[in-house]
This record gives sequence, structure tokens and C-alpha cells, in this order.
Amino acid sequence: MSQSELVELLREAVAREMQVSIQYMWQHVLWRYPIDTNVRSELKRIAIVEMKHAEKIAERLIELGHTPPTDPSPVCIGAGPEEIADIDINAEQGAIQLYTRILDLARQLNDYKTHELFQQILKEEEEHLRFFQQLKARATAQQ
Ligand SMILES: [Fe+2]
Ligand SMILES: [Fe+2]
Repeated sequence: MSQSELVELLREAVAREMQVSIQYMWQHVLWRYPIDTNVRSELKRIAIVEMKHAEKIAERLIELGHTPPTDPSPVCIGAGPEEIADIDINAEQGAIQLYTRILDLARQLNDYKTHELFQQILKEEEEHLRFFQQLKARATAQQ
């Protein structure tokens, strides 16, 4: 456990936040499935939340004396509500796993500011996960 390990995880977090921000915004733009127009606006709302996460984590990296990455992790859009839900559930579960690790590491390093930031972000990722799980349940029920 070290500061450099934490920095690497924070850089990974920024790349992932940029990825899901683009991913959800493009799913919002490209959505053409007759389920619920609320799904489209929720995708847009969450995309903006993810970009704010990227901003906050990037700012924390700068405070710690490091440069945030500028390239997102690979974006995956998917075709159809069920596939989109699966891809996004996977992305949110990955974020929750990564942020749980960051929280552990920040606690061990007595980095209270990073810890507080990720407690807030993790709560929002758990809400996102619930939204995509509901989307998946609805998509499955409509088949
Ligand atoms: Fe996020
Ligand atoms: Fe999220």
C-alpha cells in the first residue's frame, strides 16, 4: 500500500468516469427503444453526474501533485435496452469495486480528503447501479 498505488487508482477512476459520461450521454442521444422516455433523460442526468465525478477526482489528483489522464477508458454503447443495461451494470459494479479499494487505501494512508470524496461518489454509483438494474428488470419483463 502506497501513495503511488492510490494515484494510479485515481487516474484509473478519472478515465472510467470520462468513459461512462460519454457512454451514457451517447446512449441518451441514440436511444430509440419504445420503453420510457424517462430512461433517456435519466441517462443524460447520470452522464452529467459522471462528468462531475471525473472533474472532482481530477482536481484531487492535481492537489496531490499529479496529472489526470485525458483519454477515457473504452466506451461501449450497446444495442437494445437489455444489452445497454448489462453494459452499464457492469460499469457501475466496476466503479463500486474500484472505489471500495480507493476508500480502503485512503483510510490506510490517512488521506481524509480523498476518503470523504469517494464516500460521496460511491453513494451515487450505488444509485446508478440500482437504476440500471431496474432498467434490466423492465427490459427482461418486456420480452
Ligand atoms: Fe461516477
Ligand atoms: Fe455511476
